Amino acid sequence: MNRSYSKDIQKAKVGSAVELAGWAAVIKVLGKIAFVKLRDREGEVQLVASNKKLINSLKDLTHESVIYAKGKVRQSKLKSGGNEVELQKFEVLSKADANLPIDMSGKIPTDLSKRLNWRVLDLRSSKKYAIFKLRSAMNYYIREYLQQNNFIEMQTPKIVGSGAEGGATLFSLDYYGKKAYLSQSQQLYKQMLLAAGLDKVYEIGPAFRAEKSHTMRHLAEFTQFDFEMAFLKDENNIMKIIEDMFVFVLKKLNAHNKYELETLGINLNVPKVPFPKVTYESALKLLAKEGIKIKKGDDIGTEDEKKLGDLIEKKYKTKAYFITKFPFGIKPFYIMKDGKTYSKAFDFEYNGEELASGGQREHNYEKLASQIKEKGLNVKDFEDYLNTFKFGTPAHGGFGLGIDRMVKNILNLDNIREAVLFPRDPERLSP
Ligand code: 4AD
Ligand code: MG
Repeated sequence: MNRSYSKDIQKAKVGSAVELAGWAAVIKVLGKIAFVKLRDREGEVQLVASNKKLINSLKDLTHESVIYAKGKVRQSKLKSGGNEVELQKFEVLSKADANLPIDMSGKIPTDLSKRLNWRVLDLRSSKKYAIFKLRSAMNYYIREYLQQNNFIEMQTPKIVGSGAEGGATLFSLDYYGKKAYLSQSQQLYKQMLLAAGLDKVYEIGPAFRAEKSHTMRHLAEFTQFDFEMAFLKDENNIMKIIEDMFVFVLKKLNAHNKYELETLGINLNVPKVPFPKVTYESALKLLAKEGIKIKKGDDIGTEDEKKLGDLIEKKYKTKAYFITKFPFGIKPFYIMKDGKTYSKAFDFEYNGEELASGGQREHNYEKLASQIKEKGLNVKDFEDYLNTFKFGTPAHGGFGLGIDRMVKNILNLDNIREAVLFPRDPERLSP
């Protein structure tokens, strides 16, 4: 089969012969004429049958069956119709059960949970295809940027002996009779690779957290993009890379993914660099002015973070910004302190939501050991990691960015689950 995609039909010469394969999205048999809308990865195209034999063969066709069509390109009689295909040959390649478990016409809204139960059917739409094509493109552009800038892609273990991001969200498992965990982030390994001399590394891979809360932005399994570089001056070097990379990705999307963005009705504004940097303290002040009181040292909750996003957008006319100089008390043990109470940690925010956390790390062995203890953790659990710092580790820093959250916020999706093919949350282990 010399298969064309539906999108190609609009560019094809009228009169040319084409072959298509896809799913029967809409079927209308009207006596002397019949229409089938064929859906494939690249869109939909109308097939028209006007001879009796073909019309008859369409009578038992069920919605969502896989079909093969051969025919001639012609112009639709409808004004807005574009090109369509005059059927000459038609075959059912795989018949779908007539009782579809969810509405596929887009006319009746189905709740998210039911849609996710039938995710394979739910994904059969131009909008869903657009989300995952854009997600793929974003990953590609991130890699393009990093490879151009001489970063090395790594793959680190996902079965680990200790947690990096706090005990509360660890998934534990039995590892040949020993206790092991699913990796919460690539944090410790990426730092160890800098000590190994690799200088600039990154990974885009799975991370696991036993988040107990049900939110629109947390999953039990997500894709983390981790990044780490050595020989830096301070955390500002890292923020500069995030800015450049984020702008690079958005510009690429605008240049190469117009069709998918239009399918989702998205007009992507590329934020200006540098992104504003707001310290944790001044963020608290901004919120206090609006009557939102957060105690110094406490984390900024989801609702207040959204509010802060609105305030910053009003003030700086941008959706992209950093919150800097967080208190050490609410950041992990590996971050470098800045004075007694603060740290060189920042969050990268977009749309009032945290997309990434990062900062400069503590690379002094004694200080790092004491920070582990300060957080109430056991130095023994981090022995291999900690030992690295005894034998020559340069100043370094990096960030971890949630790919799913980035997709959600760039594409204005309500729920992180829409950005993931088969999401995992406390209620969901299948499909
Ligand atoms: O803020 P987090 O926990 O930071 C780290 O993992 C550090 N190791 C990063 C660093 O280099 N300092 O996670 C980083 C990002 C978050 O900003 C968020 O986008 C995403 O990972 N993330 C989640 N996404 C979906 N579901 C979850 N449960 C997530 N937890 C974190
Ligand atoms: Mg964070």
